[in-house]
Amino acid sequence: MLLCANWKMNLSAKEAAEFINTYARSLVPSSVPTVILAPFTAIPAVAEAVKTSALPRERLAFGAQNLYFESFGAFTGEVSATMLLELGCQYAVCGHSERRQIFGETDEIVGKKVIRCVETGLTPIFCIGETLDERKAGNVEIVLKRQLDVGLSRLTEDQFSKLVVAYEPVWAIGTGVVATPEQAQDAHHFIRHRLKAMCGETAKRIHVLYGGSVNPQNVESLMGQPDIDGALVGGASLKVDSLLALHSGCSKVNTAKLKR
Ligand code: 13P
Repeated sequence: MLLCANWKMNLSAKEAAEFINTYARSLVPSSVPTVILAPFTAIPAVAEAVKTSALPRERLAFGAQNLYFESFGAFTGEVSATMLLELGCQYAVCGHSERRQIFGETDEIVGKKVIRCVETGLTPIFCIGETLDERKAGNVEIVLKRQLDVGLSRLTEDQFSKLVVAYEPVWAIGTGVVATPEQAQDAHHFIRHRLKAMCGETAKRIHVLYGGSVNPQNVESLMGQPDIDGALVGGASLKVDSLLALHSGCSKVNTAKLKR
């Protein structure tokens, strides 16, 4: 299981360092890693604070919320995979719905980001999910299938083992309207099934995270579902106590069940 904190455009470098210092001091031993996904400008401060904490990467890791798929060149404002690796990042989010909706990222663009991550040694956290209109129209599986098929079309079967997938229904992001454990499990089951068609038995080992209004109160019921292997959390990851409570919820489920 994995607990991923997507801070979005929140926390300055100074605030991020203070956050990590406090979080690392209070983190109880557990087999659930925390992954901090910080704004670009806070990544060096997070890296330094993680190093100072002396916690191993299996317990506290970090990454970026985005990257560009080219290696270098005239792409004003963009950041490459190797630049992130140099800072110690292990993860990068690819195709978050906010990137898709606000910044116009297509399935093709997201797919190029995913393969760039895998080829350079970053773990992509590949985000998919339907809008409310798509759900109401009964198109959840059609949308998820298209996002998976196009977004992952460049990966070889072996490369699927380097992938993390996040199911984030757009209607649940930042709304307080969380998917029910059954709705989430249904979508995750479908995703697992599609992944199996794409990479065979490797699909069993891929972490498929749920994101969208996860909080300390609902985290255990969601994580208890058989095909949910972790959480990608926005708002509830911005306060140390709340992230610690989420971590404790994930750890409880993880010890109760054998999870990926
Ligand atoms: P919230 O947890 O704030 O709903 O955000 C979810 C999300 O988008 C994480 O990537």
